[in-house]
Amino acid sequence: MAGTIRLDKFLAEMKKGTRSQVKEAIRKGRVLVDGAVCRESDYKFDPAAVTVCMDGEEVAFSSVEYFMLNKPQGVVSATEDNLHPTVISLIGDAKRKDLFPVGRLDIDTEGLLLITNDGKLAHELLSPKKHVDKVYFAKVKGKLREDVTEAFAKGITLADQTTVLPAELLIESSYEEDGEPVCEARLTIHEGKFHQVKRMFEAAGGQVVFLKRLSMGPLMLDPLLEPGESRPLTAEELKALRKS
Ligand code: URA
Repeated sequence: MAGTIRLDKFLAEMKKGTRSQVKEAIRKGRVLVDGAVCRESDYKFDPAAVTVCMDGEEVAFSSVEYFMLNKPQGVVSATEDNLHPTVISLIGDAKRKDLFPVGRLDIDTEGLLLITNDGKLAHELLSPKKHVDKVYFAKVKGKLREDVTEAFAKGITLADQTTVLPAELLIESSYEEDGEPVCEARLTIHEGKFHQVKRMFEAAGGQVVFLKRLSMGPLMLDPLLEPGESRPLTAEELKALRKS
């Protein structure tokens, strides 16, 4: 049946325990469906239309969730990892177990990451055909070629001979650090190739030493979020994303 889900799967997806833990809870009569004990793990129902309680508490149904995360360094943009904490482990308020990051930021990159279980929206935002704008703040060491802004605006060729789409560079400040030239810049790119920002600056003679994503399409990193903090998207943010 369309729109229905098994009781054990529903409880596991709403983070009430592992599949075997919730099966046990159901068997023991700790789960009520519309006020009546249900002991069948494979009971199918429409979660939008019924009330499920476990251990006396209502299990709120949430079909899709959207969080904005300010990704800190040292955390991987993945759902599981053996070595490092994942971005998903930072979303404390998540109700769903099937959340994933929309795209990837490198382990040493900070900033805006959208976390959701809405595959359709993720696909739209990541589709190479859609050219969704991504704005980064970068601190770059080294002497960049004089015409870096024009070269980026034309579409620079990377070390492996791939050419990237035109991108907008705004150098905000230039100074010296330990006798080396450094600049701080904002770069807007319209695609998402592997290590793209780092490789673009490398092709222009620099080395990115700090990178932070500030926005993705209409979604801007909330300045109140410290690295590691997240919050649900507002209705306006979601509407703007869907429209884009
Ligand atoms: N470009 C990079 O080089 N790294 C990122 O994490 C994102 C864009």
